[in-house]
Amino acid sequence: MIELDVALGERSYPIHIGSGTLQQASCWRAAIRGRHALILSNTTVAPLYLDRVISGLDGLVHSTLILEDGEQYKTFENAARVLDALARLGANRDATLIALGGGVIGDLGGFAAACWMRGIDFVQMPTTLLAMVDSSVGGKTGVNLAAGKNLVGAFHQPRAVVIDTSTLATLPEREFLAGLAEVIKYGAIGDAAFFAWLEKHAQALLAREPDALEAAIAASCRHKAGVVARDERELGERALLNFGHTFGHAIEVEAGYGEILHGEAVAIGMQLAARLSSRLGLADAADADRLHALLMRFNLPTRIPPDLDASRLLERMRLDKKSVSGQLRLILWRGTGKAEIVAGVAETLIKEVLANG
Ligand code: NAD
Ligand code: GLY
Repeated sequence: MIELDVALGERSYPIHIGSGTLQQASCWRAAIRGRHALILSNTTVAPLYLDRVISGLDGLVHSTLILEDGEQYKTFENAARVLDALARLGANRDATLIALGGGVIGDLGGFAAACWMRGIDFVQMPTTLLAMVDSSVGGKTGVNLAAGKNLVGAFHQPRAVVIDTSTLATLPEREFLAGLAEVIKYGAIGDAAFFAWLEKHAQALLAREPDALEAAIAASCRHKAGVVARDERELGERALLNFGHTFGHAIEVEAGYGEILHGEAVAIGMQLAARLSSRLGLADAADADRLHALLMRFNLPTRIPPDLDASRLLERMRLDKKSVSGQLRLILWRGTGKAEIVAGVAETLIKEVLANG
């Protein structure tokens, strides 16, 4: 088992990575401080993995809330259902919420945990590749609005992240590939050597070979943990983790929640950001081509669906959380491994890249 640490002083927490960690309660049980635990999961994940978690909860008062499955259920209404479940459980300030599932359950559960009695503990038990390498680490929690993705939320760090790589065996291929987009992101924004490692191990990753997968997950978590420790509240460096996301979120919302997966939208968004960087003379077109080749190798989409309108996408992008005084700030790059925040890009140019996307 690999153990990493997110170094945030007294709020530091471990990330346990290995096969079978859910059933090894000895590795995560210490993260639960009080007597009450609510497990949040969904109709797909609970039948597969809930038993493994419950078997580690002996001696606690616990209950389970199972939500419908899908991005469209990451709503205020469902956060309220979680709060009601905590109330029914009789949860006090020392209760723990366990989020068992993908990024939807993790974000929603973390948000409810941040709200209940102004903040209780929560433990992330991610079961998608995307949640393992990104959303479960770093404390960004929230829900979607019709107006945009993740517009309501809180920074609320988990007490522990428990990554059981054996759960990836049941993950549908499309979801698995979407997770690889966020893995590529770490190489693209700040680690050219990792990008080259991904190129070299593409076949092993696509075959879900355990050693390659564990190495990719650990490298991604190490990267993210470092960024979060240095810039928890996204005052600087953390914004780079949004490479491809300003475009991606707009595509996701415009297509309709759940139509294009988050990781797929990020893949398209990274390709658009790379192309825009070339148009601005920040990076060589060869870098965008290399990114394109790796995304294609992982069977990820790289083009905007033809029915999405460039003007409407630009409109959506204006609501991006990185915008300051109404001005868009984009994460672009100076080539593989060298991302940076760029403000003041002419909207005509962005629209041109969107229209050709
Ligand atoms: P998801 O939670 O919808 O999970 C994808 C699908 O896989 C769902 O149908 C789910 O039920 C199913 N599933 C999960 N684990 C499974 C397993 N082991 N076997 C079989 N099926 C399984 O989507 P996701 O890609 O995990 O997460 C996307 C969400 O994460 C988005 O809402 C996005 O905004 C959010 N996100 C948050 C952060 C953050 O920092 N908080 C970062 C990235 C993404
Ligand atoms: N996924 C972006 C972040 O955690 O900051």
